[in-house]
Amino acid sequence: MNSITSYVEQHKEKFLEELIALLKVPSISADSAYKNDVLLTADIVRDRLLEAGCDAVEICETEGYPIVYGEKIIDKNLPTVLVYGHYDVQPPDPINLWDSPPFEPVIKPTELHPEGAIFARGACDDKGQMYMHVKALEYMTTQGELPCNVKFMIEGEEEVGSVNLGKFVKENHEKLKNDVILISDTGMISKDTPSITTGLRGLSYVEVEVTGPNRDLHSGLYGGAVANPINILTKMIASLHDENNHITIPGFYDNVEELSTEERAEMAKAPFSLDDYKKALDINDVYGEKDFSTNERNSIRPTLDVNGIWGGYTGEGAKTVIASKAYAKISMRLVPNQDWQRITELFKSHFEAIAPSAVTVKVTPHHGGQGYVTPTNSIGYQAASLAYQDTFGKTPIPQRSGGSIPIVALFEEELKSKTILMGFGLDSDAIHSPNEHFGVWNYLKGIETIPLFYKHFTALSK
Ligand code: BES
Ligand code: MN
Ligand code: MN
Repeated sequence: MNSITSYVEQHKEKFLEELIALLKVPSISADSAYKNDVLLTADIVRDRLLEAGCDAVEICETEGYPIVYGEKIIDKNLPTVLVYGHYDVQPPDPINLWDSPPFEPVIKPTELHPEGAIFARGACDDKGQMYMHVKALEYMTTQGELPCNVKFMIEGEEEVGSVNLGKFVKENHEKLKNDVILISDTGMISKDTPSITTGLRGLSYVEVEVTGPNRDLHSGLYGGAVANPINILTKMIASLHDENNHITIPGFYDNVEELSTEERAEMAKAPFSLDDYKKALDINDVYGEKDFSTNERNSIRPTLDVNGIWGGYTGEGAKTVIASKAYAKISMRLVPNQDWQRITELFKSHFEAIAPSAVTVKVTPHHGGQGYVTPTNSIGYQAASLAYQDTFGKTPIPQRSGGSIPIVALFEEELKSKTILMGFGLDSDAIHSPNEHFGVWNYLKGIETIPLFYKHFTALSK
């Protein structure tokens, strides 16, 4: 057994206990009722970073939740790895669908994780994955295996758009100076097919409000004679896709990068079973843009989805009413070269233009961000690839993900360095859903693989 493997084996109970303690704090950034818990989580992360060997750790205040910044600089002439992660989590709702309370972590086996998985909100996204880096640092500092400098930047607002982190990065170029950025906040294909995420989608998130009459009306007395905002809103939303599931907003596809036949063929080589996919989701068929495969639809193609829709009477029984207002929250996942602010503008003008004169519409942009792709020939990618070869015995497959970490594009723009996305989660981990979990095996494998990234990156940088 090499030393990192034995170190992990020897300390795994402690590694699990510490993660469980972190998961017990409900650091829900979206809900201000949890403010103190979010702040407490930042303090815990600071303490753990200090224990793991950082020389200095600061809680950097922002207009929102603080950023925990730590570093260990061993030699200015050696390369510097900047680790990014987030300590905030998504709200756990709907709570009643959890088999155990979201902030009372339990370890239990599943079909995919016979050795156990940790069930809790944030287990995978991102406390578990972020904490792998803290433990990898502990290994490297205590065993004299840290080959280069390391900086940590762990934020508390990723799940709400990283607005204040953007400002922090812009104002702290010197402090954050690095040679590569390392993140574990994505997934891999499967436990025996390691992969490195080479792309993330961008995002534009908007809220729409459709207003009809100035008050809720009797649907008998007025029905048929005035516009029903819910009828109109659903019709407008339906018109945003055509019969081939293309998005109908003029200009939406203008800058979308088309992959070559070769690139698509390369993508199609990644192991994927449509049957297993359907079975895992209990669906009879998949659905999406014509002429694209499932893996293409959820990674290299842009999308538009309603995330929530409400209005009118939804309580028990029946109430005959035409609501005055109807609302929806809509997200668009974007691909590289689509500018999220331009897309937001295009959506707004189109949505206003298609509204019948019988209603008024209001479009309110929320947050957004650019997509990201990273090449496979960088030193960082090569180092990650070698690290996986060491611990999985296989060359990882490069794979573009459908998810978004909007700050990654900004990192490259501001700090001029590439981000390497070494995710150890699985699609079945149910991030953002009830019963989120993270395999114990995945957690420990991450801790084992990360120090090898540092080793190879430092060697390749010479
Ligand atoms: N860690 C996820 C993103 C992710 C997960 C990327 C899995 C690839 C694979 C991140 O915490 C997240 O949830 N991002 C949000 C966007 C954010 C602006 C709220 C998302 O993708 O919806
Ligand atoms: Mn995340
Ligand atoms: Mn998330």
